[in-house]
Amino acid sequence: MPNRLFYRQHSTHVMKTEGFTIWLTGLSGAGKSTIAEMLHREFLERQLPCETLDGDVVREHLSKGLSFSREDRDINVMRIGFVANLLARHGVVVIVSAISPYNDARNLVRQRIDNFIEVYVKCPIEECERRDVKGLYKKARTGVIKSFTGIDDPYEEPLQPEVICYTDHETVEHSVEKILHYLERAEYISAAIKISE
Ligand SMILES: Nc1ncnc2c1ncn2[C@@H]1O[C@H](COP(=O)(O)OP(=O)(O)O)[C@@H](O)[C@H]1O
Ligand SMILES: [Mg+2]
Repeated sequence: MPNRLFYRQHSTHVMKTEGFTIWLTGLSGAGKSTIAEMLHREFLERQLPCETLDGDVVREHLSKGLSFSREDRDINVMRIGFVANLLARHGVVVIVSAISPYNDARNLVRQRIDNFIEVYVKCPIEECERRDVKGLYKKARTGVIKSFTGIDDPYEEPLQPEVICYTDHETVEHSVEKILHYLERAEYISAAIKISE
């Protein structure tokens, strides 16, 4: 089967990068999706296969129907972790942007999957509320929506994240640079394979 052999040789050559998962956690409006988008573009520029699992999109599809109870939030996080692992083990760079408010659930994902990089997208709730990107804080304050993270539902700060982005006083570019630097230092990506260099 010469074709199959060729495919194998070809694929090992292409998939020289081990996959990994960058897990962006933080309050609603902290900047997870914004950072994820820019990171995604950076990886594509470096010709790395990349997939983003965004909390809002996942809840429309993979986790449709789940509530915002602790149990359902944990199920959501475990599902995202499961898919991230499937992708990463085939060499894909996976970006997760999801509030993922509980330490236990994030730590369980960390234990279950290889190459897990937790990024705390840190922003004071006052600033998130001022941004109110999706108008959800207003709805939470007026009681239109219940169990809103940071208002009437908990957010547990990561205890030992690999990277912290302070999005109230960093630009998006700076936050993305910090993550890329960490990945280079930890040898997940090589600065040398950046196309522009
Ligand atoms: N350093 C930063 N990183 C990310 N977003 C930032 C930063 N500074 C300001 N912002 C702004 O904050 C908002 C974050 O919204 P979004 O990315 O949708 O948050 P999340 O996905 O965490 O709910 C955007 O309007 C973005 O432009
Ligand atoms: Mg988002």
